Amino acid sequence: MLTLSAETARGKVADYIPQLAHVDPKQFGIAVCTPDGQLYSAGHANTPFSIQSISKVFTLTIALGKMGDGIWKHVGREPSGDPFNSIVQLEHESGKPRNPFINAGAIAVVDAIMMGHEPKETLAEILNFVRFIAQDNSICFDHKVAASEMEHRDRNASLAHFMKAFGRLRHDVDKVLGTYFHQCAIAMNCEQLARAGLFLVSDGIDKATNTRVVSAQRARRINSLMMMCGHYDGSGEFAYRVGLPGKSGVGGGILAIAPGKGSIAVWSPGLDALGNSYLGTRALEQLVQKTGWSVF
Ligand code: DON
Repeated sequence: MLTLSAETARGKVADYIPQLAHVDPKQFGIAVCTPDGQLYSAGHANTPFSIQSISKVFTLTIALGKMGDGIWKHVGREPSGDPFNSIVQLEHESGKPRNPFINAGAIAVVDAIMMGHEPKETLAEILNFVRFIAQDNSICFDHKVAASEMEHRDRNASLAHFMKAFGRLRHDVDKVLGTYFHQCAIAMNCEQLARAGLFLVSDGIDKATNTRVVSAQRARRINSLMMMCGHYDGSGEFAYRVGLPGKSGVGGGILAIAPGKGSIAVWSPGLDALGNSYLGTRALEQLVQKTGWSVF
């Protein structure tokens, strides 16, 4: 049994997406899914939240499935050391985003997987994949969150137009953004999210259903990208404190993968200065200290 030491600080809820500003910051949930599919959870582990940037792990997995290493023509795989919504590197690097987890990179990935299709077709593909890996067909988009992001899209629209000016996006900017915002607006709870991460725990195999989702090499590579880039300019700090591949979202969720041990989802909406869940990070730090699950 884990006991977390009391934390009073909780960080600040993201308010640049107005629909997220309404979420009660005094919530915390955690779920651990072991390779056999067994779930262990506590707190608000059944409360749905906006997975936001955690969805970028799933769209990257889809992109690798569709185009293999071809995706690396569209996006790099180096840490950016800059905030998630930064534009500065794009100007010096011919509009090619550093990695698939910063906003510009995720927008480029979504444009790449659209392949001439309409947003609703790409979104159906994304949602089907997430439902498949989570083994749960009840997972849906939160259309209010997506609409709120579309309404306040200026920053992401700047990134997208800037990339398009370099010939990096093939589709209409608003269609790409609409798809990207819906992907970010998938609502899941900690139990569903931990279950969805299971294929990254056992070399690409979902051992609970004995299904190979990706090759062992691909699972390792996705995990390394999560380790190096999953927390933006806070990735070094997360690796130092937690020592697991992890991906955060401004909804306050974090998915962390302990290879061979389990998939962990934490959620607490208050964020630190870099946009990563304040309490979620501390909970993962304590969990890893008590279990010895750090990869190092
Ligand atoms: O585009 C955005 O800004 C959000 N939909 C996603 C950002 C995000 O989750 C950053 N994560 N910590």
